[in-house]
Amino acid sequence: MVVQRFERHRMASGSARAVSDTEFFRLWLRDPLAIGGVLPSSEALGRLITSEIGRSSGVVVELGGGTGCVTRHILARGVAPSMLYVFEQNQLLSEHLRDRFPGVNVLNVSAVSMKRALAGVGSEIGAVVSCLPLLSMGRLPRARILKSAFDVLRPGGALYQFTYGRRNPVPDKLMDRLGLRAELIGGIILNWPPARVYRFTRRRSVAVLPVRSAGSALRRDLP
Ligand SMILES: C[S@@+](CC[C@H](N)C(=O)[O-])C[C@H]1O[C@@H](n2cnc3c(N)ncnc32)[C@H](O)[C@@H]1O
Repeated sequence: MVVQRFERHRMASGSARAVSDTEFFRLWLRDPLAIGGVLPSSEALGRLITSEIGRSSGVVVELGGGTGCVTRHILARGVAPSMLYVFEQNQLLSEHLRDRFPGVNVLNVSAVSMKRALAGVGSEIGAVVSCLPLLSMGRLPRARILKSAFDVLRPGGALYQFTYGRRNPVPDKLMDRLGLRAELIGGIILNWPPARVYRFTRRRSVAVLPVRSAGSALRRDLP
């Protein structure tokens, strides 16, 4: 129903338009765990989560593009559309993102496949901006996504994640296993729900596990 209505509007207008808050809410009603938020992020949250992004970030990857409110802020920081890769597993939202942001690489696949999907991109990925609902995700996909993000990031690169929770959404055990450190870079009260943004980087001198053994180790010992 929502899909049909959205499609009708899209075909009639022939151009990009914002997915309304009501439509986003209806998508959430249909699949709350996958969509993860009742409303798109606020302007303030979009600004905060992209506050350390710029041209020097090189290639930027966004996970869970949704309606594009964070995508827009990444581009506003000076990142060229061709240097931005957006993962959005919802087909309707990914079509909307393609319409709205010509030239941006929108991938309608799960972020779990990030490493494979970005295989041809090279080694210049400086930032991953994640809007994924980490807290409602299964342990294995969450671990895989975080592991893949740090596999694709260049040395010194960072992952930015917002959460509606009161603390770092990555369990301590997984933080240790992946050798990550988290710093809170700010909080936004004027967002529904209020959100916090964390920057994740690698701790110094971490032995990086090969993907296969890390995968099986993660499966055995997931926090
Ligand atoms: C909380 S919404 C955030 C949307 C938007 N970036 C924002 O900040 O308003 C999370 C988005 O992540 C997408 N998503 C959830 N799991 C995903 C996955 N495994 N891979 C790619 N996208 C995913 C959902 O479809 C949804 O659009």
